[in-house]
Amino acid sequence: ATDLTGRHFLKELDFTAEEFRGLIDLAAELKAAKRAGSEVQRLRGRNIALIFEKSSTRTRCAFEVAAADQGASTTYLDAAGSHIGKKESAKDTARVLGRMFDAIEFRGDAQATVEELADHAGVPVYNGLTDDWHPTQMLADVLTMTEHTDKPLEAVAFAYLGDGRYNMGNSYLVTGALLGMDVRIVAPRAYWPADDVVARARELAVASGARVTLTEDIAEGVRGADFVATDVWVSMGEPAHVWDERISALAPYAVTMDVLRATGNPRVRFLHCLPAFHDLGTAVGREIHERHGLTELEVTDEVFESEHSVVFDEAENRMHTIKAVMVATLG
Ligand code: CP
Ligand code: NVA
Repeated sequence: ATDLTGRHFLKELDFTAEEFRGLIDLAAELKAAKRAGSEVQRLRGRNIALIFEKSSTRTRCAFEVAAADQGASTTYLDAAGSHIGKKESAKDTARVLGRMFDAIEFRGDAQATVEELADHAGVPVYNGLTDDWHPTQMLADVLTMTEHTDKPLEAVAFAYLGDGRYNMGNSYLVTGALLGMDVRIVAPRAYWPADDVVARARELAVASGARVTLTEDIAEGVRGADFVATDVWVSMGEPAHVWDERISALAPYAVTMDVLRATGNPRVRFLHCLPAFHDLGTAVGREIHERHGLTELEVTDEVFESEHSVVFDEAENRMHTIKAVMVATLG
């Protein structure tokens, strides 16, 4: 079993491929046990703090349900109802919460904040998303990939289309490289991950045998892919005015049925961390629709609702994989 006792979970680069795979295996075991009604509680009496400076549906619920399943309790803290991010520093917050809790989850803007919490908490700190990385999402995506392919991960090809410079693009590139996969970032050059992230991915690829591709060419980028993934074009915390530039730059990279057909793989699967703008019927969506006249953005409703789409397996797997992180670091 994977023993990561006392370890933080801040970014993929902090883990070996064996450790990362160990978490996937543990998540699969925990998922099977829950389904079979034979889950053993390994976190009884533990207390987990959940800090959310940004909104969340999946990540928060995944931590809360996973903790409850394992016999632990959670306390939710947001910017409005606590001093975090306003009156009290991350360093002091870490030292206070570290005296009361067995682990701390943090979602916010800066990777530096979650790293600072980790430096001072004295208990494991988990990154629930920053601008730079979304590592718990990667565990869910890789578990979902293993469930929807017969191939070993080293033989799996996946293409991410869209904004490659943010948490999801960075995390996909590095995770694919770490695990020896054939990973492609398909986006206009200005939306490729930063040079230092690409350099780290290329270093990892030397050790893992991964193939790392960055391309503007959609046909080349998706050819032979087992999985095609995307993310929103404007992330939490970004100003609304960037929608104009994003839509004009990234519209050609929307995941359509033509993109799926261009893989040449009739069994290709579609991934999205969610929430997704596959229809603009939500409050935020309606504003974009009124301004830009579009009805769907990074993925068409046709793809999202098709048999190719495994996005709700992926969402469910957030819970099983986050449970694995807590069990491995605290269990
Ligand atoms: N995918 C994801 O992180 O979802 P939430 O923002 O709802 O947590
Ligand atoms: N890139 C998105 C991911 C949401 C889960 C964001 O940061 O808003």
